[in-house]
Amino acid sequence: MMPEKISDWELTYTDWNSEQQPLREALCALGNGYIVTRGAFEEVNAGGCHYPGTYLAGGYNRVETEIAGHLIENEALVNWPNWLALTFRPKGGDWLKPDTVDILEFSYRLDIYRGVLERKMRFRFGDEREFSLISRRFVHMEKPHLAAIEWRLTAHNWSGEIEIRSCLDGSVTNQNVERYRQLNGNHLETLDRGLDGEDATFLTVRTNQSHIEMAQASKIHVFEGEQPISTTRERHLENDRTVQHLTVSCQSQKELRIEKIVAIYTSRDFGISQPTLDACKAVRRADCFDELLRSHERKWRHLWSLADISLHDGNSHTQFILRFHIFHLLQTTSTNTIDRDVGVPSRGWHGEAYRGHILWDELFIFPFLTLRIPELTRSLLMYRYRRLPEARYAAKQAGYDGAMFPWQSGSNGREESQDLHLNPRSGRWIPDNSNIQRHVNAAIAYNVWQYYQATHDREFLAYYGAELLLEIARFWASIVIYNGDRDRYEIRGVMGPDEFHTGYPDNENPGLNNNAYTNVMAAWVLRCAVNVLDFVGKKRGQELREILEIDDEELLRWDKISRRMFVPFHDNNIISQFEGYEDLKEFDWAGYREKYDDIQRLDRILEAEDDDINRYQASKQADVLMLFYLFSSDALQELFEHMGYKFDRELIPDNINYYKSRTSHGSTLSRIVHSWVLARCDRKTAWELFEQALHSDIGDIQGGTTPEGIHLGAMAGTVDLVQRCYMGLEMRDDVLWFDPLLPHELSDIELQLRYRGHWLWLRLTDEKLLVSCERGCPHPVKLGFRQQVYELGADETREFSC
Ligand code: BGC
Repeated sequence: MMPEKISDWELTYTDWNSEQQPLREALCALGNGYIVTRGAFEEVNAGGCHYPGTYLAGGYNRVETEIAGHLIENEALVNWPNWLALTFRPKGGDWLKPDTVDILEFSYRLDIYRGVLERKMRFRFGDEREFSLISRRFVHMEKPHLAAIEWRLTAHNWSGEIEIRSCLDGSVTNQNVERYRQLNGNHLETLDRGLDGEDATFLTVRTNQSHIEMAQASKIHVFEGEQPISTTRERHLENDRTVQHLTVSCQSQKELRIEKIVAIYTSRDFGISQPTLDACKAVRRADCFDELLRSHERKWRHLWSLADISLHDGNSHTQFILRFHIFHLLQTTSTNTIDRDVGVPSRGWHGEAYRGHILWDELFIFPFLTLRIPELTRSLLMYRYRRLPEARYAAKQAGYDGAMFPWQSGSNGREESQDLHLNPRSGRWIPDNSNIQRHVNAAIAYNVWQYYQATHDREFLAYYGAELLLEIARFWASIVIYNGDRDRYEIRGVMGPDEFHTGYPDNENPGLNNNAYTNVMAAWVLRCAVNVLDFVGKKRGQELREILEIDDEELLRWDKISRRMFVPFHDNNIISQFEGYEDLKEFDWAGYREKYDDIQRLDRILEAEDDDINRYQASKQADVLMLFYLFSSDALQELFEHMGYKFDRELIPDNINYYKSRTSHGSTLSRIVHSWVLARCDRKTAWELFEQALHSDIGDIQGGTTPEGIHLGAMAGTVDLVQRCYMGLEMRDDVLWFDPLLPHELSDIELQLRYRGHWLWLRLTDEKLLVSCERGCPHPVKLGFRQQVYELGADETREFSC
């Protein structure tokens, strides 16, 4: 499963393995925060183990399907025309297909320092003609509209003519996820196709509902060394494809070089006249492959100079995988994403799982981005701000005030969670209630506040962030129900992060009462909202109160609720995941581990056995433990005391132990949280979980989900464990606090981060933490280390003994 070779910056597969190909396509996807294209071979169409998907950040479309007697509408991340399409054959012979030739030598290498995918393949056709191919390609990181492929082709035992075929193929549909194949996957219609100049073609398509246009233009040339060689060129326009057909003569042992340069524009782009026109213009003006590669590599070098985390410990696996995760984070959202109206998809733009939707995973993703490229987080938060009207409408429709953001968000912020989902084990379509995970609202508010803490960006807070926070607070204040017997506020009928528990057993209405995580987060949001007006300046604060019609009474009510939220406990100091969790049956973990190889998705296993996971104390992922992940023990103590609960710190390890043995880690996010909360009290298990989280995608530990898209939250979470958990980093009260603890398995961590306009360089070893202020604002930054606050000025370094 794992790549055969990993160095600090490269992974290499040295065999052709059709079973592994879907996984490799997702792991070797190339992108630039604008588009992402899977690592499929150029010469294949979708089918069998091949799926050459191309996705546009935020490129969604809605279609209807009739399923199990219901007409359902799904909004999907669209698979756009395949620009990779390139193949060849000896004249009159068979076209190259990896599945039909004899592959004699093979390597597939992803260079994450340069963002280049390379394949070397020596192969023999059925008629004994033998060739070598070296293919390299990239999706340009600096010029987001360009991508390029180079093929170096050598015939070994043969001379004669070869035919080369290059296409822009719009005959694609959405077919990546097997579970969704019964859903309508036809999203595109061809608008236009044509020839441009002597050497190019273009294809323009449009989504059939959202009417996003995409134009692709491509040119192709053949060289011997640097010299273009003469070819016979035919160009055909088919219904949904453009084809360039070149015939060239090829001499044994003489390498031919083929360059395909592609430009992609959409109707969502800025600074353009019209996609087709701009795509043709860009491809005409584009440099040759080598020149483009130079500027692409330069951009990656610059990105790495701010984003790298170096471990210096000779453990190349850990080092590589961390960088690999940073690589995919930056391919999904990069500086090219800034100002585009897109959010962060939980599965990258690497496949069609979750249909490219935006869930709460940004909670795990933003800390890495904010502390490197804060403008990017700001832009991604604006995705939420622009959908505030839709969230207000959703709240109103549900009978609440304020703004209620959807669990799954796509184009316009409508709830995109599906109504039914397929259990592949049982083949049954089951009602999907995951959209009652209202905690996504708390995550958005928390993210706004964390962004402000990291950047001190008052303008954002004053004009966008505070409004998000206030409207979300208002929603929480309207969803709570006062329980006079308890003299406490409650939230009923919701789901927490643990998606196994959708309701009470034998109760046909979905939803649980008083999910502790949701209630505590609601209290936190309300408390934060009461104070946020103090941070935006008097005038703006007054304006916001007028615009949102917030009076003193409402603020007093928010304050009161935040002090009287109900939190369920059992066994003295165990925070109950929800009211009644402790009454559920204990689950037979040992028995099921024996019965099934993999019990991560117990919900599916039990449903297929006609049982129901809701009956058991078995969680898919961290729920209560999310609290210890998001808040330090000091912050949590303060919050619980604010709510009128005694908070004995001893309850933290007790709760961790309780839930640790009741969690299947059916979500890749779960191990991140468990590793984080165990980092200080059970370092061995914490490291094991960290390692498992590192392997989530590269080892496809869920057995088949990564080919449908990477798990961006888990990827970012592993990086953030190194960045914030091991450094003990916390942004609180205008101070950047450190309380480091290096895992025994590491000897050294070096990284840079941006905090309130400063660039800080950090190095942590067993003995010391070094912090220098490399460049940035002239005023000093406040650092906290073990209860003491220090000031650090420009060009200064401080050393703390660990
Ligand atoms: C998890 C969710 C998560 C989603 C996307 C699910 O398996 O339960 O918490 O948001 O995956 O990563």
